Amino acid sequence: MDSYRVLLNGITIPSIGFGTYKLGDESETIDAIKCALKIGYRFIDTASFYGNEEGIGKGIKESGVNREDIFLSTKVWNDSHGYDKAIKSFEESMRKLDIDYLDLLLIHWPTELNSETWRAFEDLYELGKIRAIGVSNFKIGHLEALKKTARIMPMVNQIEIHPCFSQKELVNYCNNYKIQVIGWSPIMKGQLLEVPLMMDLAEKYNKSIAQIALRWHIQKGIIPIPKSSHCGRMTDNIDIFNFELSEEDIRKIDNLDRNEKVSDTPPNTTYDNFKW
Ligand SMILES: NC(=O)c1ccc[n+]([C@@H]2O[C@H](COP(=O)([O-])OP(=O)(O)OC[C@H]3O[C@@H](n4cnc5c(N)ncnc54)[C@H](OP(=O)(O)O)[C@@H]3O)[C@@H](O)[C@H]2O)c1
Repeated sequence: MDSYRVLLNGITIPSIGFGTYKLGDESETIDAIKCALKIGYRFIDTASFYGNEEGIGKGIKESGVNREDIFLSTKVWNDSHGYDKAIKSFEESMRKLDIDYLDLLLIHWPTELNSETWRAFEDLYELGKIRAIGVSNFKIGHLEALKKTARIMPMVNQIEIHPCFSQKELVNYCNNYKIQVIGWSPIMKGQLLEVPLMMDLAEKYNKSIAQIALRWHIQKGIIPIPKSSHCGRMTDNIDIFNFELSEEDIRKIDNLDRNEKVSDTPPNTTYDNFKW
């Protein structure tokens, strides 16, 4: 299975990333990033909202891995929507991360100001400051609305995806438009570890439950971004390229879908304006 995927504009992105929400204080964040990069992660996902961009920038520098070999994404939070605020948020993230270009900038959640915020993203992209631009937590309705005003379609949609919330309609829509899906909370914040089918499959393939879940994402063409503060678990989570789930087992995992979200939607978004 390929360890990279190609975005709409031709740039490559690693097929698994490292999630960084709630990694801990700055020194814990630095250590986690150094560990993740040492193990082989080359895609790191953060957000202005996570409050850890400084630690992530330091961790990258201290790791000794070349900046060009790392794919780094950050996001613009809901209170920074609109053209000017989005540009300011981007600049602040660049300062905190201490980098001179960004790989991927995302609108963290949809709001009433998506089209203005997106115009700022398009300008930053065309100026060469960002290699790819995308959205997060956009449903089909948000993407359809954005299509009416956008010059450039989002290259990525980062959404909650795990076997109990697989968002089939939205994933199909994104696949049709070649919008790469990135899956957040891919192991359901740990809750998948208690699902009997996942336990059975872990035993059958002699893998951990997290590995079965992440492999399911990979075989569906979805980029999972698991978070862990433990080097051992980080190693486990990326070690998923040496086995394959059968079509039948993929279908069994698909059947776990019960439309069960693992996180609440933050206030001041238009997430609930659409069903899909
Ligand atoms: N765009 C968005 O709106 C959005 C929303 C939420 C998350 N995200 C992104 O997605 C990333 C991942 O999501 P998440 O952190 O919510 O959930 P997750 O990755 O599904 O789960 C993380 C939890 O699982 C545990 N864990 C990790 N690997 C494990 C393993 N191999 N065995 C057992 N337990 C394991 C972690 O504990 P330890 O840390 O103690 O190992 C942590 O408690 C975030 O960090 C963030 O980058 C984006």
